[in-house]
Amino acid sequence: MTKITAAITAVASYVPETKLTNADLEKMVDTTDDWIMARTGIKERHILKGENQGVTEMAKHAVQKLLDKRGIGADEIDLVIFCTVTPDKVFPASANIVSRKVGMNNAFGYDLNAACSGFIYGLVTGSKFIETGSYKKVLVIGADKMSSIIDYTDRATCIIFGDGAGAVLLEPNTEGNGIQDSILKSDGNGEAFLHQKAGGSEKPPTLETIANGEHYVYQEGKTVFKFAVSKMADVSFEIMQRNQLTADDVSWLVPHQANLRIIEATANRMGVGKDKVMINIDRYGNTTNGTIPICLAEWESRLNKGENIILSAFGGGFTWGSVYLKWAYDSEA
Ligand code: UT7
Repeated sequence: MTKITAAITAVASYVPETKLTNADLEKMVDTTDDWIMARTGIKERHILKGENQGVTEMAKHAVQKLLDKRGIGADEIDLVIFCTVTPDKVFPASANIVSRKVGMNNAFGYDLNAACSGFIYGLVTGSKFIETGSYKKVLVIGADKMSSIIDYTDRATCIIFGDGAGAVLLEPNTEGNGIQDSILKSDGNGEAFLHQKAGGSEKPPTLETIANGEHYVYQEGKTVFKFAVSKMADVSFEIMQRNQLTADDVSWLVPHQANLRIIEATANRMGVGKDKVMINIDRYGNTTNGTIPICLAEWESRLNKGENIILSAFGGGFTWGSVYLKWAYDSEA
């Protein structure tokens, strides 16, 4: 019997129009463009503005674009996995909300929260539904409205994050392309260093939690940085080794965009030159679940069938991991 692999067959992204530049941030907190560029590599980010605009508003644009590109109807989608830490609501799932907005009436769906590693967790999870032959069209969305949980008086966090959405379609492949291998990891001890203090069942919202700013991202940046550098680099190297891939065999590294220095450390450990690393952190900052699919969408026209691509991420939890895939199509763009 021919082996079925799960392959990405379409990708699209969306970022909101409004930009928040380093020059804007210089007016809001005690920081400088030089500091932000030197420490993170970020120049600007996009922010979703307006009343009643949640993460699904961005996701719906990305999904609609993807369906148009692939030339299929919304009702052909079987499953929607929505990877996010900023869902529209605690419930129902943003997967259900975006399905309604786009008209994915035959799909079931759920949200997946693995912080910045969510998209690769979602990709691996989605691939299993394809590999078993159970489903034919699985949509994996990575999207976050980080501006909804960022304290714009905290210079250590507000400079990093931005809003954005990306989506990929997974379909069965019998040519040997698509997802080849993955390594996913987590360590709950990371909670102390990166979390949101209130708003969940442990500490529901009160006037006091709001007054104390406990609904914002809390991050001990230095510690997170240290773990991110070692874990993301190690896991990316490990997946190369276990698949007998040399740096020459790797066409592209698609790293989570949290900090340019973390990306460079990962590429160095893999021995992959900067010309083969997708980097757009300067324009979007850290869009959490959005970073990897946004990169894939921006680089899609340069990707060729059969190329070896490594996706890598690290995030809150802690969570981290790598996916090795063979690109499944030549872009018509
Ligand atoms: O994607 C999910 C996972 N998250 C990450 O991967 C983020 C990982 N962490 C980082 O990227 C970095 O730790 C940051 C970019 C958040 C911070 O950079 P850093 O080089 O680790 O700075 P730091 O926190 O060690 O702070 C160094 C100094 C401090 O001043 P003192 O104590 O040395 O006087 C900070 O108060 O820089 C100061 N500082 C700033 N100065 C100007 C912190 N933020 C700023 C700022 N502008 N925006």
